[in-house]
Amino acid sequence: MAVKQRELATGQELLRIENLYTQFFTEQGVVKAVDGVSFSIEQGKTLGIVGESGCGKSITAMSIMRLLPEPRGRIVEGKITFYPPDENSVDLTALDRHSPEMRSIRGRHIAMIFQEPMTSLNPVYTVGAQITEAIQLHQKVNKETARSRAIEVLEQVDIPDPERRIDEYPHQMSGGQRQRAMIAMALSCYPSLLIADEPTTALDVTIQAKILRNMRGLQKQYGMAIMLITHDLGVIGQMADEVLVMYVGKKVEQAGVRNIFHNPLHPYTQGLIKSIPLIGLRGKKLLPITGSVPSPYNLPKGCYFAPRCPSAMDRCRQEAPSEVEAEPGHLVSCWLYK
Ligand SMILES: Nc1ncnc2c1ncn2[C@@H]1O[C@H](COP(=O)(O)OP(=O)(O)OP(=O)(O)O)[C@@H](O)[C@H]1O
Ligand SMILES: [Mg+2]
Repeated sequence: MAVKQRELATGQELLRIENLYTQFFTEQGVVKAVDGVSFSIEQGKTLGIVGESGCGKSITAMSIMRLLPEPRGRIVEGKITFYPPDENSVDLTALDRHSPEMRSIRGRHIAMIFQEPMTSLNPVYTVGAQITEAIQLHQKVNKETARSRAIEVLEQVDIPDPERRIDEYPHQMSGGQRQRAMIAMALSCYPSLLIADEPTTALDVTIQAKILRNMRGLQKQYGMAIMLITHDLGVIGQMADEVLVMYVGKKVEQAGVRNIFHNPLHPYTQGLIKSIPLIGLRGKKLLPITGSVPSPYNLPKGCYFAPRCPSAMDRCRQEAPSEVEAEPGHLVSCWLYK
């Protein structure tokens, strides 16, 4: 009996986020980690999310997965509608995060590769036991089938000698191998949506390229959607269909990947693009734009980017811009386009 793959129709809406506000309630004040963000992800497509450290990329992902450290950090407003293939749609914000329904969505339908590999591997179980358990939790297959599927995914992420290494504990693997084992675990259940948070940052360039190729291969094979969070614009250029640019909890621009690189509209996106000397050169990190990101406890009035913006006008320092569709399918929040 083979592990069942679900057939997904490319282009259909799989996830829709509407006006999401996620906040942390700390002793110093409220951190508006995600501040009114909306977007959707289509089946079979890759949405890239970029932006400087602290802009809310991981917290957007954790909100979808309902893995926030509640109640300290929680969704305070918004809707996250998930359209699972062949099942009724569900608002993830309305579910109890510990409920069987949410647990079944996590892993089976939506899998996540975490920025920090040790958060999802348990040190007291072998890597194989963990992947096999994940497969058996979500698919009705016997142990043998699950084990051979686990070996197959370990091979797909380039773990050498997977038949033997499947019985190793996480600490017996190198950091890069652990990260790949985690990627294997995420892929093992054929999720319809893979959320990958800086999935290849700790890996060397050759292995990174191979894993990205494998991810794309699986995506083509059965229509998996990918939400790819990365600092690496080279990876975005290679992988993404659509790109969302975030700044201090807000989406400042969204467009198809070609437009983001060749016709960026927001001065922040323009800064990001200009800060890489050679677009498409893999492994190039974003260089900081002049000035720094404001403190979440002391945000400027108006547009949060205004203090660093070369094109800032008086209005920008008074009023926050709302989103406009500057050209078909190209969204931007900036007073230059009003
Ligand atoms: N547990 C927490 N308690 C308080 N604030 C938090 C917590 N986790 C995240 N934040 C805050 O939420 C905001 C968004 O953080 P997030 O982790 O989403 O950033 P990011 O875009 O993923 O950054 P990076 O590129 O560094 O991973 C930041 O201001 C961060 O300080
Ligand atoms: Mg992050």
